[in-house]
Amino acid sequence: MIYSFANDYAEGCHPSILKALTDSNIIQQAGYGDDEYTKNAESIIRQLTATDAEVHMIAGGTLANLTVLSSILKPFESVVAATTGHIYVNETGAIEATGHKVEAAPSKDGKLRPEDIIPFLNKARGHHVVRTRVVYISNSTELGTVYTKQELSGLSEFCKANDLILFMDGARLPMALTAASNDLTLADIAALTDIFYLGGTKCGALLGEAVVIVNPELKKDFKYHLKQRGALTAKGRSMGIQFDQLLRNDLIFDLARHANLMASKLSNAFKSSGYPMLIDSDTNQIFPVLPNHIIQKLQRKYSFLVWNIIDSDHSCIRLITSWATPESIVDKFAEDLSQV
Ligand SMILES: Cc1ncc(COP(=O)(O)O)c(C=O)c1O
Repeated sequence: MIYSFANDYAEGCHPSILKALTDSNIIQQAGYGDDEYTKNAESIIRQLTATDAEVHMIAGGTLANLTVLSSILKPFESVVAATTGHIYVNETGAIEATGHKVEAAPSKDGKLRPEDIIPFLNKARGHHVVRTRVVYISNSTELGTVYTKQELSGLSEFCKANDLILFMDGARLPMALTAASNDLTLADIAALTDIFYLGGTKCGALLGEAVVIVNPELKKDFKYHLKQRGALTAKGRSMGIQFDQLLRNDLIFDLARHANLMASKLSNAFKSSGYPMLIDSDTNQIFPVLPNHIIQKLQRKYSFLVWNIIDSDHSCIRLITSWATPESIVDKFAEDLSQV
């Protein structure tokens, strides 16, 4: 059997979620997120963020991104993202399909800094071109890197000073917040962004992203946007109950810590075999650079993404671990790597 390190959504959900779904199955609840599980999860998120944020559960990341962005932007406004940003590369033009341009800022490590955004402001052609209004970042980024408190504070101040909305895609926020190099809390994220989401799909849930709206101006009418985009789920309880479980006793963070630890074990295996990394990551995505013949041998037993071609003999691959990756498989991979 081929074991997959291709993504972090190859398994179902944590057993405690499955049990909670079963135990609550027949209990009647209100629809569209007005059920008691969702209400409870929302109030835990408000406690953890020390805010009176509005929280909405959305079934997937692309749907969350397009609903959030199209709710904020005027018809002629755009969003700026890193060239590696999920909305720029991997969402089939979903944002553009809502009528908004995604502007791409070059970034080597997946993060955006004020100097990356400056070229998109003060456009010389004024109203003849789109106006940049939202800064989209992800934490962890698509390269597995995380924002430091200093970086996020700098970006937040810059956005405030330039009338820009800061939106954080947190599909892997639990992994970012439990990374060894992280110095941010969920309350910091809420204080420094206007709107963000806490990922469930990649963090132990069957599906679901919890969108947290901190900026009061963005709360207004959000429910209308949700409904119109098809993002308001009648059986919202299915996501509410999952976040309710994930947020109890910090389960979501324990699961993310496990995913990070498994990735760091894989990373050490590559490093001790003398293979370099494209980029340093202490979250659950790693990017080793290997000779192509080694990649081919590993592919007989494991699946992963070939990220990019380095030269005629070498490529960079991406391996992702999840909340459910068994340590025994990681150990076996390390042994196989040392033998190929
Ligand atoms: C950072 C990030 N944002 C958003 C998404 C989109 O999520 P979905 O596949 O649920 O639409 C992904 C999916 O891989 C992602 O990695």
